[in-house]
Amino acid sequence: MKKDNPRRSFLKKATLTSAALTAAPLVWSSGYEEKIALQRQYAPQAFSPNDHINLALIGAGIQGIYDTKAALSVAGITLVAACDLYTGRLDRAKELWGDAIFTTRDYREILSRKDVDAVIVATPDHWHQKITIAALEAGKHVYCEKPMVQDPKDGQAIINAQRKSGKICQVGSQSMASLGNEKAKQLYMDGAIGEMVMLDMYNDRYSAEGAWQYPIPPDADPETVDFDTFLGGAPKVPFDTKRFFRWRNYQDYGTGVAGDLFVHAFSTLNHILDSHGPNRALSTGGLRYWKDGRDVPDVTITLYDYPKTDTHAAFNAAFRINFIAGNGGGGGFKLIGTEGEMEVGQNSVTLKRSKLGMVPGGYSMVAFTEATQEKIRAGYAQQNLESRASSLNVGTTTWEAPRDYKGGHHDHFYNFFTAIREKGSVVQDPTFGLRAAGAALLANESYFKKGPVQWDPTGMKFI
Ligand SMILES: NC(=O)c1ccc[n+]([C@@H]2O[C@H](COP(=O)([O-])OP(=O)(O)OC[C@H]3O[C@@H](n4cnc5c(N)ncnc54)[C@H](O)[C@@H]3O)[C@@H](O)[C@H]2O)c1
Repeated sequence: MKKDNPRRSFLKKATLTSAALTAAPLVWSSGYEEKIALQRQYAPQAFSPNDHINLALIGAGIQGIYDTKAALSVAGITLVAACDLYTGRLDRAKELWGDAIFTTRDYREILSRKDVDAVIVATPDHWHQKITIAALEAGKHVYCEKPMVQDPKDGQAIINAQRKSGKICQVGSQSMASLGNEKAKQLYMDGAIGEMVMLDMYNDRYSAEGAWQYPIPPDADPETVDFDTFLGGAPKVPFDTKRFFRWRNYQDYGTGVAGDLFVHAFSTLNHILDSHGPNRALSTGGLRYWKDGRDVPDVTITLYDYPKTDTHAAFNAAFRINFIAGNGGGGGFKLIGTEGEMEVGQNSVTLKRSKLGMVPGGYSMVAFTEATQEKIRAGYAQQNLESRASSLNVGTTTWEAPRDYKGGHHDHFYNFFTAIREKGSVVQDPTFGLRAAGAALLANESYFKKGPVQWDPTGMKFI
């Protein structure tokens, strides 16, 4: 979608709602209220038996539980089965969803069941591709957690399997589906920040849990944990509960902060800008504090180049993750443009537009005589630069989602199930998922190669 003149189109709209630019917070514009109203139509009584979807969970760990809860917040969904390699997680699944659910350690037993329509794949990253393809081939719809693949080279096979199967495959960066992200997309397309100049993303953490030191249960042993299956195609190593429960810390199973955190940012950014993503990355960092056996950095700084396209100017993105943030932590995601900037969250967007200073102030005038300063000011006035600058609509506005908004995770599952029910499509399909994962994983490629790396965001290949 090409924007003709971003500034003019936004100023026109801004004039119509000039109060909007000074008062905060605002309710969402009517389009967003409609979206919420649409979701509310899906009250349980609206379901015919044909709309009912039976779901199974493969990988019943932390995110598998959050995913299943979000999935079950959409009406007409039943969890019928769960699969995991640790017995305690299967016990937990029954505790949460009842003894009637079928449980197994073997995902193939889930895929062969006729009563399963769709599966969530929430295993560690190194299992995503294999299980997703097997599920599609078995005729199941798939919600695959992000990053869609551990290695971008594995992505095309999922795209092909989804096309061949005709089933819905949705990748799980749920923020992208939120009202906050949708509002940011609308504002960007309306020209609210002008042309993109920079993207500033950071995530600072200051806790062991934030640094992926997840708890190891006291009953974990070779009986309760199927360690050999967990390893899958990764190198064989002796039984190790740290590797099993803290798999993110090892390149063999995870994707570091790139696949864990950057990938969400790329899903959001590519969606807002209608972009295929960056074409170059340069990453640095190191393992500074969490020397617990991990082989991935705990501080990462990556710079990305986005090339110019029909929907955005060429711009740079800076991503920073710090797992030893002495200030207690926090995060940010800010799009910075020629006309302003916006901080984007799942439930809110804050837009700041400011006046571009054209007329020099005292700083540079100090070196001229009073008479020369007068002449310089007169020259600017003659060009009418001052009045043009002050006619810009400036101020800070925050849009907030309604209090009872169910959030991006609910919306993402709602979109997935709606696509299944209506034989439609999803935005975060395997092509979208590979573009987000590929962009994110460039950070690892560059970090370990110690130099810049290039990527074809449309062809989805390393150059
Ligand atoms: N969308 C998000 O916001 C979000 C948040 C956290 C994690 N994730 C993603 O979710 C996935 C899981 O992360 P997590 O934090 O829940 O990890 P986790 O370790 O808590 O859970 C993973 C579970 O998968 C099981 N498992 C491993 N191999 C399996 C196999 N072959 N078959 C069946 N089960 C298997 C493990 O036993 C474990 O219980 C990861 O890909 C991660 O990137 C997404």
